[in-house]
Amino acid sequence: MRSSIQDRISFLRSFLANPRQVGAVLPTSRRAVRDLLDPADLSGARTVVEFGAGTGVCTREILKRLGPDARLLAFELDRSLARLVSEELGSDPRLRVINDSAENVTLYLEDEPADVIVSALPFTTLPAELRRSVLGAAHRALAPGGIFLVLQYSPLIRAELEALFGGVRFRFSPLNVPPAFLFACEKVPR
Ligand SMILES: C[S@@+](CC[C@H](N)C(=O)[O-])C[C@H]1O[C@@H](n2cnc3c(N)ncnc32)[C@H](O)[C@@H]1O
Repeated sequence: MRSSIQDRISFLRSFLANPRQVGAVLPTSRRAVRDLLDPADLSGARTVVEFGAGTGVCTREILKRLGPDARLLAFELDRSLARLVSEELGSDPRLRVINDSAENVTLYLEDEPADVIVSALPFTTLPAELRRSVLGAAHRALAPGGIFLVLQYSPLIRAELEALFGGVRFRFSPLNVPPAFLFACEKVPR
């Protein structure tokens, strides 16, 4: 089993190679991960998707909260980070680590929409076109009533989330480097 120091070094290496794609120098703190996930009923979810698994800090906590028959699709674009998460957590049959961009999520869902999508993608440093494409894909991938949980290091994404999703709740999680802005967005059934 890898230590959290090894994970931090791997994360930092990926940040130095691709700063705008990785968007942070450290993985999210355990406290901020818990704050991020708390608004969703993960124990009752069948299909959960994660965007930007990094070293797997959210992945691990999602798996702890998921039921035995649920599935988790974890997207990670950085090949070395995707491999790291697969090696560490891939023996869990509920998890599929996907080394592809989050914007392709609907290709992998096999007609069963997601109940919850969790994202720590750095939307403010990603190209605008990619950001819009990922947000649109998240909205299409969610079941009516589903929840999109978003962690950011700035509140700038709020207006865009409110334009797409019906109800957006906002919280601040100070125990993270840097402090995190958390959004819980509900796809309002039509
Ligand atoms: C801020 S880090 C968060 C990592 C981890 N979830 C955490 O909380 O520590 C963002 C991650 O998203 C990944 N990423 C960026 N763009 C992506 C995309 N289009 N699809 C999938 N992953 C992406 C980066 O490689 C990076 O690992």
